[in-house]
Amino acid sequence: MASSLIRRAVNVTSRVSSSTVAPASRLVTVKPYASETEAQKVEPKAAAGTNMKTFQIYRWNPDNPSKPELQDYKINLKECGPMVLDALIKIKNEIDPSLTFRRSCREGICGSCAMNINGCNGLACLTKIDSSSPETTITPLPHMFVIKDLVVDMTNFYNQYKSIEPWLKRKSPPPTAGKEILQSKKDRAKLDGMYECILCACCSTSCPSYWWNPESYLGPAALLHANRWISDSRDEYTKERLDAINDEFKLTNVVHASNRLLVPSEPLEPSKSVSIVSVKRTDVQASNRISVLTEAEGLQPSMYVTITGDHH
Ligand code: SF4
Ligand code: FES
Repeated sequence: MASSLIRRAVNVTSRVSSSTVAPASRLVTVKPYASETEAQKVEPKAAAGTNMKTFQIYRWNPDNPSKPELQDYKINLKECGPMVLDALIKIKNEIDPSLTFRRSCREGICGSCAMNINGCNGLACLTKIDSSSPETTITPLPHMFVIKDLVVDMTNFYNQYKSIEPWLKRKSPPPTAGKEILQSKKDRAKLDGMYECILCACCSTSCPSYWWNPESYLGPAALLHANRWISDSRDEYTKERLDAINDEFKLTNVVHASNRLLVPSEPLEPSKSVSIVSVKRTDVQASNRISVLTEAEGLQPSMYVTITGDHH
C-alpha cells in the first residue's frame, strides 16, 4: 500500500518539476493551513511577542495537483530555534502538519534537509534564520522533480552516484591477507575535501549544466566522488574509472555555476574535482580548458566554477 502510494506520487510528479517554480512574485500566496481560530491562537503571542517573521514556503500536493503555490506562515522567532529547520519543524508541529520536507540528523550529517533558501541551496539545519529580514522564501532544490512540497526525487542523482562505482576496486589481493590496505599519510591526505561529501545534491542542483542535461552530465557531486576513487592509492581501476567518465556530456559540459553553498561541516570543493578529473582525463584525451576558483568561508564555502568551454 505504502509503496503504491509512493509510486503514484512519483508518477504524478514526474510531470511537474520544480523547474516550473515561478518566481515568488508570480506564485499565488495563500493563507496558512491553520483555521482563523488556530491562527488567532498564534497571533496574540505575536502581539505580545515582537519578533514575527514570514516564511514563504513552496507547496505542491500530488493528490491535488494544481499549480504550485507559495504559502505564507508567520512565526514568532522568540519561540523558535535559530535554524531554518527549526522554523519548518515549528510550522509543521504547530500550524500545518501537511507541510512536507525531509530531515533526519539536524546537524549537517545526513544531507536530507537540502533545499533552496532565499535563492541559495543549503541545508536547512545549518542555515540560520535571517532575523534581519521580514521574509524568507523556501523552495525545493532547483530543477528537480517534486514529490511533495520540499521533497524532491533524488533517483537520478543517486543513480549517477552509483554509476561511478563508489567503492574500492582491486585487481590484486591485499598485501597482507585479511588485513587493511594501508596508505601513507600523504596518500590519505589526497582524499581530504572529497570523502566528507554527504550527497546533499546542493552543488549539482545549483549547476545550470545539470539543469539542462541531468540525464547525461554527471554533475559536481558524482564527479567529486569519481575523483575520490580515482585519487585513492589503494584503488587499482584508475584507468577504467577515467575511461568510464571519458564522455563529453558526463564530464565537461559545465558552463558556469555560482552559488553560495551553506552545506557541509567541512568546506568541500566539488568544483575542484570537476577540474582535477578533467585534467586527469587529458592524459587519455584532450579536454576542455577549465579554470576553477574556489573560496572557503568556514562553514559556508562559496563555489565559483568557470569553465571556458573552448575545446582544444
Ligand atoms: S559536494 Fe558538498 S554540496 Fe555537493 S553533494 Fe557533497 S556535500 Fe552536498
Ligand atoms: S537534517 Fe541532516 S543534514 Fe540537515
